[in-house]
Parts: sequence; structure tokens; C-alpha cells
Amino acid sequence: MLKCNELNLQAPHGEAKPFWRDSAPSEGPCALGCGAQPPAPAPTAVPAIPTSMQDELLAAQEICSRAKTAVIEMFGHARMGRALELEHISALVDDISSSIARHPNAFISLARLKSVDDYTYMHSVAVCALMIALGNQLGLSTALIRRVGMAGLLHDIGKMTIPGAILNKPGRLSSDEWQLVRTHPLEGEKTLLAASQMCEMVVDVCLHHHEKVDGSGYPHQLAGDQISLAARMAAVCDVYDAITSDRPYNQGWDPAVAIQQMSTWAGHFDDEVFRAFLKSVGIYPVGSIVQLKSGSIGVVIEQHPDSLLTPKIKVFFLPVLNIYVTPKTIDLSDPAQPDRIVARVPPQRYGFKNTERLWLDEDMPEKR
Ligand SMILES: [Fe+2]
Repeated sequence: MLKCNELNLQAPHGEAKPFWRDSAPSEGPCALGCGAQPPAPAPTAVPAIPTSMQDELLAAQEICSRAKTAVIEMFGHARMGRALELEHISALVDDISSSIARHPNAFISLARLKSVDDYTYMHSVAVCALMIALGNQLGLSTALIRRVGMAGLLHDIGKMTIPGAILNKPGRLSSDEWQLVRTHPLEGEKTLLAASQMCEMVVDVCLHHHEKVDGSGYPHQLAGDQISLAARMAAVCDVYDAITSDRPYNQGWDPAVAIQQMSTWAGHFDDEVFRAFLKSVGIYPVGSIVQLKSGSIGVVIEQHPDSLLTPKIKVFFLPVLNIYVTPKTIDLSDPAQPDRIVARVPPQRYGFKNTERLWLDEDMPEKR
């Protein structure tokens, strides 16, 4: 295992973003200070050429599909006690990171859309992407971003020890079943410790992504700065993707409603990490349903890089007449645009379905 000496990365008090920055100038020995070599070199940081949301959605779909296959295979190996092939998944993390560099919202928006059947696998892919985007927002180095991405991909690997009938149970878990599910961080730690060349940060995230800053999490009831920065990042990314995804026992929440709700959960998340997360996905993430001052309802199709409150919206519904209208794109960042967002709208309120069709490329399937 690659040992890391800076697991408890703490924010200098009073400092705004970035509140922690890796001092390692480039890839080499483990950037967290252990002196060991990582399993494969990170790619040279070549500035990505930005692409449009629609172009990147097509590229992201292909990467998403490969990532899902790789995670299914990796989890299968873990279930059978076989060695994890880290080089393969390292390359995958690099591909996801490149997609996010070309467009910050495309891959993340796509990875949120998952079917109930592939939730466990696609959740790992989505958390990987969210961790990379959050790492970018926090100003982490390329080397560290690669590791937090890997940690996201592997954070729930311990779930492979939980019977599928419990993981995919459509109803509420019994007390015994819930206790079994809560063993997955410890089981994951065992799996990762058995792999050679595993970065200590990845193991730490796997073990502690369900800890809460008020000490009420599990498995060790760590509090505040006892929880590493990487695990605090994973806590936010894990919950956001879980509650915005359709799961066997729950329909996913609207992304903007999820962000608003998470902001009220005192004691759950690290405040500074959560603020950085807001900046990375937006107050109204892509796919959120919102009502405008004019009365129209639309779906957020793209973030504005400099303003979280003025995304691009595709208007499609007029609630006052209860009718769908021909979709029309409005850029709220346009100074000539008088409209603004006045409310989040849970899709269930009007029975909206498949609203992702409004922001996905028309050639893409509704759900993977
Ligand atoms: Fe988990």
C-alpha cells in the first residue's frame, strides 16, 4: 500500500478557496508524501481544449459505458477474491478527468442518470467524476485529483460482500439488514488492503466515506478534522449522487432540491467542502427543474462558468395553462434577459418524466 502522510488535510483557518493545495510539483512518488511510486504515471497536464456540452455528452457517453463495464468487472473480481487491476482503472480515471476538463458538467450530468439495476456500479463512476470535479474546485494537483478519482471509483467496493437481495431490496431494510450494509466500509478496507500498490488515501476514503463531521457517522464515529479531506469530499459526493439517483427503494430527487436539502443537514458535511461542491456542480445543477419569474418552468441545461444563479434553461411547460410548450432555450446570464429563477420544482409535482431528453443530445438514449 502506498503510505501517505497528509491524510488529515486541514483547511487553513479563514482562507477562502483553495483551502488546501498540494505542494508536489508533479507526478512522482506518492503525492501525499509516502515516497512510494504510484501504480502508473499520471498523464502530463496538457490544457484541455474546451468543447460544447453537446459534443462532450457524446464523448462522455462512450467513457461512461466503458467505465460501467470496467467497474462491473472490478467488483466481480473483488467478489471472487481476485486481484484488482489498478492500471486499467487508473486509465479510466484519466479519461473521466479529461472529459471533465473539456466540459465540467457533461460527464457528471450523464453519470447521474442510471437505471435501478446498474445503480451500484454507476454510483461508483458518478462519485469518481464528482470527486474529480470537486478536486479541481479545491485546487488540488493533477496527482491528487487522480487519487481522489480513484478513491471515488473504489469507495463502495465493500458492497460486493453484501448480498444483492439486500442491496437491491425495493423496500425498507430490517435492522439486521441495515447492520450488514453498514459493514461495507470495513469490508472494502479489507479488499483494498489485500491489493498491492494501493494508495493509503483510497483506503481511507473507502473506510471513512460514511463519517459525519458531528461524529454521528460510521464505522468509527470520527468528527471534524479527524476525518481526512478526501473522506470529507467523498461524504458529500456520495450522498449527492445517492439521493439524486433512482434506487430500488427510492426515486431520485431533483438535483437542485437535493443541493438545497443537503445545505440544511447541520453536522453532516464539512462546510468548506460543501461550498466548494456547490461551486463545482452548481446551485441548480444540470437537469434541475426550475420555475422562472415569468411563470414558465424549464430544465437547467448548462451552467454559467461565472455565475451559479444564471444557468441556461430550456423552458418546456406553462403551469398556469397546464400545457407543454415548444422547448426554448433561455440564457439567464444574458444581460438583456429579464427572467430569473424563483423556485425549484420537484418533477413529481407536475408528473414530469424523462426530462433528461431536454438536455441530452437527441441521438442519445433516454437512459443507459
Ligand atoms: Fe458507501
